[in-house]
Amino acid sequence: MTQRRLAMALALLALLAAPGLRAWAGEDEPKAPSRRPDVHFVPTPHDVVEIMLRLADVKKDDVVYDLGCGDGRIVIAAAKKAGCKAWGFDIDPIRVKESLENVKKNNVGDLVTIEEKDIFTLDLSKASVITLYLLPSLNVKLIPQLEKMKPGCRIVSHAFDMRGVKPDVVATVACKDGNERKVYLWTTPLKKEKEE
Ligand SMILES: C[S@@+](CC[C@H](N)C(=O)[O-])C[C@H]1O[C@@H](n2cnc3c(N)ncnc32)[C@H](O)[C@@H]1O
Repeated sequence: MTQRRLAMALALLALLAAPGLRAWAGEDEPKAPSRRPDVHFVPTPHDVVEIMLRLADVKKDDVVYDLGCGDGRIVIAAAKKAGCKAWGFDIDPIRVKESLENVKKNNVGDLVTIEEKDIFTLDLSKASVITLYLLPSLNVKLIPQLEKMKPGCRIVSHAFDMRGVKPDVVATVACKDGNERKVYLWTTPLKKEKEE
């Protein structure tokens, strides 16, 4: 290699080492999810997030898990409002990256942890509050994990019920966007409804 070519190659390497250019080269881009997410990302409106946290009576000594955390808004709000520890889990690396950026922007890195995980593999025993915005069938699929939680834990779900389990409260939220949303609250141990 001539000296000129060597210099050019080194200059290119140095350029690619710069963070902005690494992203341009595709190196910092999130990879594809390990499997297809069970539901797409649709964010819970902020006014509904507030009601979910209030209904679950989230306090400083709670540990909140958002199963399928999207952009991290629920765990960030829990940390900011209650000062509690909160974990967000999402299977999609794009959502994990977005959540981590939002955690940083909101200065809650000391309280909030974001992990790329399939929610159906999680041990929920360390959580005291679970937040959900999934689908009715996915809420039902989570029952075996939720049943292992200690007594007195709260589970709140935006929009969707959990067939076969009686909620303690079903609240209707009149949102700023003009729509009404339902929020369900259950407490552990879960109260199973009798099969008809
Ligand atoms: C409807 S969004 C709710 C986002 C957030 N919880 C909120 O309420 O704003 C559902 C999220 O679940 C994630 N998701 C879907 N299947 C999942 C799985 N098996 N494990 C972890 N996350 C999953 C999606 O990537 C998406 O971000």
